[in-house]
Amino acid sequence: MARHLFTVGPVYVEDETLQAQTKPMITHRCKEYKNLHGGIVEKIRKCLQTDDDVFLVGGSATILLEGAIRNGINSNSLGMSNGSFGKRFIECGTANGKNVTQVHVPWGKAIKPEDIEGKVTNDIEAVHWVSNESSTGVLSDSVALAEEVRRQNPDALIMVDAVTSAMAADLNLPKLQPDALVFGTQKALALPPGLAIAVVSERMLEKSKNVANKGFYTDFVKLKKNADDNYALTTPPVSLLYALDYQLDKILEEGMSARYRRHDKMAKLVQDWAEAKFNGLFPEEGYRSRTIGVVNRGELDFDAFHTALKAKGYEISNGYGEVKSSTFRIGHMGDTTPDMIKKLLSAMDEVLEEMQ
Ligand SMILES: Cc1ncc(COP(=O)(O)O)c(C=O)c1O
Repeated sequence: MARHLFTVGPVYVEDETLQAQTKPMITHRCKEYKNLHGGIVEKIRKCLQTDDDVFLVGGSATILLEGAIRNGINSNSLGMSNGSFGKRFIECGTANGKNVTQVHVPWGKAIKPEDIEGKVTNDIEAVHWVSNESSTGVLSDSVALAEEVRRQNPDALIMVDAVTSAMAADLNLPKLQPDALVFGTQKALALPPGLAIAVVSERMLEKSKNVANKGFYTDFVKLKKNADDNYALTTPPVSLLYALDYQLDKILEEGMSARYRRHDKMAKLVQDWAEAKFNGLFPEEGYRSRTIGVVNRGELDFDAFHTALKAKGYEISNGYGEVKSSTFRIGHMGDTTPDMIKKLLSAMDEVLEEMQ
């Protein structure tokens, strides 16, 4: 039986989107490819209100999170974390030999400007954090963080993991002005996994010219040279690009404001349900994710609950990291609609009743 995914990613992909991948194959150095690549870049810029460079690289989002670290930092960075993925971004730094000063805030809390007061010293080359922490369902205010970074050290690069917020929550790029903003296809773009996307600033590209040991695959200077010709550096997942192009047209047709409002509406439905049926949502109020509801599950036997839910054709996600056994997660992003969420919530109500 097919299961409808309300997971944290990969997420539900519409049949038409899957079909968009089945166009005839083309090589990645032909004119048709250039048109496809260039069109996608323009559409991403339009969606995210930016004129910066956009890189498309085969792989999962982490390849470009690591790429940002490898291209933007010679020695020292400041890494902030409020959950598993913030820790992982920091690990991308330490695993590449960077000296990462770490700021960890309690799980469930947003990262706030006061958490980095006095910490963005002149030797800090970049500051990195996660916009929407997928383990806790916290959406931090990245604009406020970026402004605090710039106030303390205007030269520090700003690197944002936007894997579960880009295209679902308004990240306000004109104000955020990220030097690297990274996401992938399998989350709010509602596509299969396989492509990493980064919006990269001129500052970042300048810095990259003088950083050693960037490797080859994600050398931003090489990526830029190819991107200027609407090419990828290495062989891209062409079929996925067909589907991405299709999705971007649909996203622009919906309109970004309407898209953000739809995500807000789904988040509110899940929040109200979590308050009525459980001990509410895990993250602090005022910073709750628009794409992932992390529910305090109390005494619920999640495995039994999920098995019964899957038998009805619905799949959600278990808790993650430190809160794995005290929460579960509902993904509400991409092409999921409030009506679909209502159906999921009814199915979960039925299961809860059956379990009593
Ligand atoms: C916030 C966040 N960052 C990074 C990642 C890693 O992304 P990928 O598996 O596409 O490399 C994930 C995956 O769930 C995520 O949710």
